[in-house]
Amino acid sequence: MTRIFHPLSESSEGLFENNPDKTSIEQFKFFHADEGKPLATPWQVALSRAIMLRDYQIPEGVILDCACGSGIQIAAYSEILKRPIIGVELNESRARASAVNFRTVFTERGDNSLERIKNSVFVAGDGRDGSAIMSLLKLESESVAFLHLDPARPRNSRAHALSEMAPRLDEVFAGWKPHIKSDDAGPAILLDLSPRLSRNQMLEVEDLVENFWPNTNKTWTWTSRGRGRVDRLALWLGAIAEPTLPRRFVRIPPDPTMPPFILLGGKPIAHQAEPSEEQFIQPQRGSYVSIIDAALVESGMADDWLGDLSLGSYVWAQYHGRRPVIYHQEHIKQQSSLTSNLIVATGRVVDLINEELTLETADKFVEIFLQHDIAKLTIRASLNPNLQPKLQGSFDRQLARRHGSREAFLLHNPNGENYLLCIKN
Ligand SMILES: C[S@@+](CC[C@H](N)C(=O)[O-])C[C@H]1O[C@@H](n2cnc3c(N)ncnc32)[C@H](O)[C@@H]1O
Repeated sequence: MTRIFHPLSESSEGLFENNPDKTSIEQFKFFHADEGKPLATPWQVALSRAIMLRDYQIPEGVILDCACGSGIQIAAYSEILKRPIIGVELNESRARASAVNFRTVFTERGDNSLERIKNSVFVAGDGRDGSAIMSLLKLESESVAFLHLDPARPRNSRAHALSEMAPRLDEVFAGWKPHIKSDDAGPAILLDLSPRLSRNQMLEVEDLVENFWPNTNKTWTWTSRGRGRVDRLALWLGAIAEPTLPRRFVRIPPDPTMPPFILLGGKPIAHQAEPSEEQFIQPQRGSYVSIIDAALVESGMADDWLGDLSLGSYVWAQYHGRRPVIYHQEHIKQQSSLTSNLIVATGRVVDLINEELTLETADKFVEIFLQHDIAKLTIRASLNPNLQPKLQGSFDRQLARRHGSREAFLLHNPNGENYLLCIKN
């Protein structure tokens, strides 16, 4: 059964899950019914995405989110693009929470264009059934200008199969194809998918799109909020894609008042993950070493970015995994806070330590650190999680009592059994 909720008049009575969104400068408090919070898009991510959409020519018409959850993303679109929206959500309480959340954003950001809120609606219903929603809302044919889809995925899914998504992409495409505008570039659609999709699954998604809208422009977008993690993987299609640029990497900064860092380029997706260009090479004393953000590497765009940094020739000593490492000829200037966000650590190798790192050998390491005038050192190596803080604490305490002057990091040699002691630039 379908039901319509109007943001202007919907009451929050009976909605209990009320949580502050810590990523919003406004400290919005959003309602999330039926444990919807983990599904919701953080406000800062939703807002950055809406701001990026401003660069594209979205045709006239309605913005639709056909699985809108708590309605965070669709509220951000409406707020930035200044258009009324339609949100559809299978779970009735969540659809109602979305209407209330929409009003919260609208009023707290101080907009007074009543037309926009009056013409925005949330429907509790099946987001796959385009025709039913169109006739319920008495919309003219082909009036959907832009479709957003962030399907739910089963918790603890290992497969991340396309068939597990709710609603399924093919069913949504079939249900909305007659109602969405499309030109030579294809329809304007944003598919917000699991960051765990394999390259083969990404190609499966592309094939599905091609089945419905052949020759559609496509730009895959990896979004990271830091710590080397890809938080979202989305496919931007048609009018919101870059005709010749198949990939985009977006780094959302920790400070919500700062704009995101955006990198466009890359190669089309292929069946295999990017070929690792790892070289089995031993570092020399004096060579430069940098640990690169793992999310940037996962997007397959690290070489595009490194190419612009004027660091001379470089080789990947480790490409995959949590701590990708390059050796390079020139020192990297930390030009901006964004450079330093994507370069986890950079420095020059001053020593190779052929010891296992344990509590028993910690003092030997400290002796070597002191020979190199080190005041502070960060361990950048995968150690047993119980051991890591103990060793780091022991190094911190022992170095604090001495009078070194240099900052350093300790990296496990990706191609050997020793540790690289690196002085930071
Ligand atoms: C990942 S959440 C969306 C979160 C949303 N982007 C936000 O910002 O809050 C996906 C939602 O799809 C809903 N859903 C699943 N199947 C659906 C269907 N057939 N029609 C409409 N919504 C559906 C789920 O109830 C869930 O709330």
